[in-house]
Amino acid sequence: MQNFNNIIMSVFGGREIELPLNIKVLMNLKKEFGLDEISYSELLKKVHCDEQSQEIREFIKNEVRKILYECKYCPLHLADCHTQKVPGEGSWNSPLMLIGEAPGFEEDRLGRPFVGRAGELLTVILNKLNIDRKKVYITNVVKCRPPQNRTPLASEVKACSKILELELEFISPKVIITLGSVPLNYFKPKSSIVQSRGQWIYERGIWIMPTFHPAFILRQGGEALKRVKWQVWSDFNRAIAKVKELKPDYDFN
Ligand code: URA
Repeated sequence: MQNFNNIIMSVFGGREIELPLNIKVLMNLKKEFGLDEISYSELLKKVHCDEQSQEIREFIKNEVRKILYECKYCPLHLADCHTQKVPGEGSWNSPLMLIGEAPGFEEDRLGRPFVGRAGELLTVILNKLNIDRKKVYITNVVKCRPPQNRTPLASEVKACSKILELELEFISPKVIITLGSVPLNYFKPKSSIVQSRGQWIYERGIWIMPTFHPAFILRQGGEALKRVKWQVWSDFNRAIAKVKELKPDYDFN
């Protein structure tokens, strides 16, 4: 691996350059598992194949977590309300990824995504669909809790995209459900969640189903509550049907 660094350094006139994070992870993977002979594109194919060993998946998960825990790309990690970074959780082999906005109070306290009231509702929705929460991958666009749970700033989203991009690259989901407008706008900037929910977006070879955030459901009452619940239910069902079409053998239990 030293050779690879030297080649890069000589190409850039001996200056130290920051390697892309995905390449760093793959370099470490090569080193750890003695996979030096394999090219990066072959290695990525190997990482994505269904038969991939649990050991390799765990290794990548831990590498991405290390990068997250050391992250200082934006000032959110210094915010008073923030106590810890909240990594994504679930299966690194899942064809389905759920993406929220940013951790709230409970998520920050426990270091896990979607474990507060909105998270409880999300778990109920998954259970009603006969899906074990552990068999999907659940994450947020931003991994640190913003002050007063405000919407993350564009600069925070951009900084934290380094981590989300690693999750997307290594998990390579077939279908994503975006929860609320922040993750929707990550994939389709300047979109309105009201107009976009329930409308498929096909980006980077991934089917993306935008739906409302569970916290939005919790804020509704009366007729609006019934309508929004039905809409989210319908969006989830369509997303799961798409996963089953694309990955019929994946076991959600
Ligand atoms: N809301 C989010 O968007 N993410 C969480 O993890 C919790 C609440």
